[in-house]
Amino acid sequence: MKIGMGSDHGGYELKEFIKEYLETKQHEVVDYGTYSTESVDYPEYGEKVANAVADKEVEVGIIMCGTGLGISMAASKVNGIRAAVVSEEYSARMAMVHNNANILAMGGRVVGKDLAKSIVDAYLNAEFEGGRHQKRIDKIMKIENK
Ligand code: RB5
Repeated sequence: MKIGMGSDHGGYELKEFIKEYLETKQHEVVDYGTYSTESVDYPEYGEKVANAVADKEVEVGIIMCGTGLGISMAASKVNGIRAAVVSEEYSARMAMVHNNANILAMGGRVVGKDLAKSIVDAYLNAEFEGGRHQKRIDKIMKIENK
């Protein structure tokens, strides 16, 4: 799978760790930054990954900031993006199964590295169920056009 990744300084270390993990699992990762622990503003990186997902440069995105909150808020402002910030496996799976989230967000200061790997696996291995959930997603996306 082709996956776009991005973070601010608060998520940088976790991004690097998960990037390596995904590459060992034969995923192709496009890294939209940031590229160091120097302080940066998370909206820029949330927007970059969200644009890449919306433009179909990558299939899904995985983003991190300190909490996962700010960067997911920024990403979800881009048309067509549903970013889900999660800190446990069940929500990660449901983010795909029910919400068809196209971006997964995590907090680099919230989740440990092993948990983050399990979260990523739960998200990437899940499939959107469609059906009644599609109708609800359509309603979410209609809000963008109001
Ligand atoms: C940066 O210190 C921090 O505010 C940011 O990483 C994130 O947690 C914001 O939601």
